[in-house]
Amino acid sequence: MRLPIIKLNDVYKSYSYGDKRIDVLKGVKLRVAPGEMVGIFGPSGSGKSTLLHIISTLDFADSGYVEVLERVIDPKYLSEDDLALFRRRHIGLIFQSHNLFPEMTAYENVYFALRMRGHTHSQAHLRATNTLESLGLGEQMHKNVQMLSGGERQRVAVARAIAVGAEVYVCDEPTGELDRENAINLMEILVSLAREGRTFVIATHDDRLIPYFDTVYRLEDGVLHKVAKKEVKHGKDAGDTQ
Ligand SMILES: Nc1ncnc2c1ncn2[C@@H]1O[C@H](COP(=O)(O)OP(=O)(O)OP(=O)(O)O)[C@@H](O)[C@H]1O
Ligand SMILES: [Mg+2]
Repeated sequence: MRLPIIKLNDVYKSYSYGDKRIDVLKGVKLRVAPGEMVGIFGPSGSGKSTLLHIISTLDFADSGYVEVLERVIDPKYLSEDDLALFRRRHIGLIFQSHNLFPEMTAYENVYFALRMRGHTHSQAHLRATNTLESLGLGEQMHKNVQMLSGGERQRVAVARAIAVGAEVYVCDEPTGELDRENAINLMEILVSLAREGRTFVIATHDDRLIPYFDTVYRLEDGVLHKVAKKEVKHGKDAGDTQ
């Protein structure tokens, strides 16, 4: 067995608001191997996004151990700048908010992300065009992203993350706004990247994705349980698809 690329032990995370406190993660343990495609299911509010923020180094555990690509993710040891650089080099983020530049076209969003990472004009042009086309956006790529549908915007965000490349992809509901055909096409692209050794942690409510995962977990009551694929649908959030 290869050494895990993501390692979490005893991860706790709470949020406080006013005089209330909510304990979201209560001792999460997780091991993810290189090239593994991991799915995380769980009821709404169970802490999936919270966990993804911690894995992607955008937020920190209150206590416990978090290691990604052999680095201990702890603000005691890493400055904000170190973390930002680490994320830019190694982590691909596919989040619901999309974080696209609204005044740019779909193509420009991907193209400029590549240019900022040192690709030449022709490399960036070819890669942006090919990736957008592979996600079914050939016709839409020169539209301003504000003119695109939610599902199209979601695919632009995926195209940007894939085009730029990363060792670890952290995806929050990547198919939430996609129809069946686009969801399957997207997952097939992600699986082919996983076969090349890229690693995926995907939080989702989407039962259609189950066949694509190597390992499936449920996050419930603050802890992760590994589950057999056929059991996912019988959880509390069964049918809770968007
Ligand atoms: N910044 C915050 N401040 C206070 N509470 C928060 C904060 N972020 C999340 N929470 C709370 O933590 C809990 C877990 O939220 P989280 O977004 O991780 O759930 P989730 O499993 O991703 O849900 P969903 O499936 O609806 O996306 C929720 O009860 C939420 O209200
Ligand atoms: Mg969430």
